[in-house]
Amino acid sequence: NGGIITIPVVVHVIHSGQAYGVAQNITDEQVQSQITVMNNDFRRMAGTPGFNTNPVGADVMIQFALAKVDPNGNPTNGIDRVRICQDSWTTSEVNANVKPTTIWDPTQYMNMWSVKLGGSSSNILGYAQFPSNSGVIGMPAGGAANTDGVAANYRTFGSSDYGTNFALDAPYDKGRTMTHEVGHFLGLRHIWGDDSDPLVCATDYCNDTPPAHEDNYTCTLPIESCTPGLFEMVENYMDYTNDTCMNIFTLDQKARITAVMNNSPRRVEL
Ligand code: ARG
Ligand code: ZN
Ligand code: CA
Repeated sequence: NGGIITIPVVVHVIHSGQAYGVAQNITDEQVQSQITVMNNDFRRMAGTPGFNTNPVGADVMIQFALAKVDPNGNPTNGIDRVRICQDSWTTSEVNANVKPTTIWDPTQYMNMWSVKLGGSSSNILGYAQFPSNSGVIGMPAGGAANTDGVAANYRTFGSSDYGTNFALDAPYDKGRTMTHEVGHFLGLRHIWGDDSDPLVCATDYCNDTPPAHEDNYTCTLPIESCTPGLFEMVENYMDYTNDTCMNIFTLDQKARITAVMNNSPRRVEL
């Protein structure tokens, strides 16, 4: 397989009794569109939206496939539809009440949740849990095994490029929220290093992402890095720009992910 790792994925579609394809009971096609985007982005597939020819752009050599076998050894399409009698959730409610009751063995699968985020979390597109015990420098704290994985609002899950049955949340409608969150799940930091001082460029522990002052929300202007002559890599998946702007993981980001994978916490593969 040329060193390519395929991670089996389960997508938990959390709904509150809607018919298939209505609101947060999203279709299989919408789920699959998310897997397609992650594969295009992590494998740096030519011909996909916004292909970036920057020489530091990387094929991360990780890809994703919906699981074919469930934890009991039975065939599955990798999509786990769960009805829970609560319509929307904050992220802390998801962690406390949704993830532990629905998670599949996180050493065997990457768990993804599509949920309706609401209340104090209604503006959150998605969130992730960092790896635990990776041994990789500059890794934020991970979390409990029974909350491991990535979650997104159902309106930012998947890509409108691949057909969805309702309007996704533009400009976050191309599936890059989960590309970004899976980046965290595999150990990547935000390119601005997460400090809140707009004058300081904190490190993301990757030398080929120019130091960035803070999170960016637009691609339109070149933004000077803290390093003279360099510009912030607003098109990196680990910034906060619009989905159509984002189009690169770098070689050093790939190296960081590879270090995490070699140290085993994320070594789930087919
Ligand atoms: N955790 C971030 C948030 O909720 C995700 C940002 C993803 N950005 C994007 N263009 N899809 O704001
Ligand atoms: Zn992030
Ligand atoms: Ca800063």
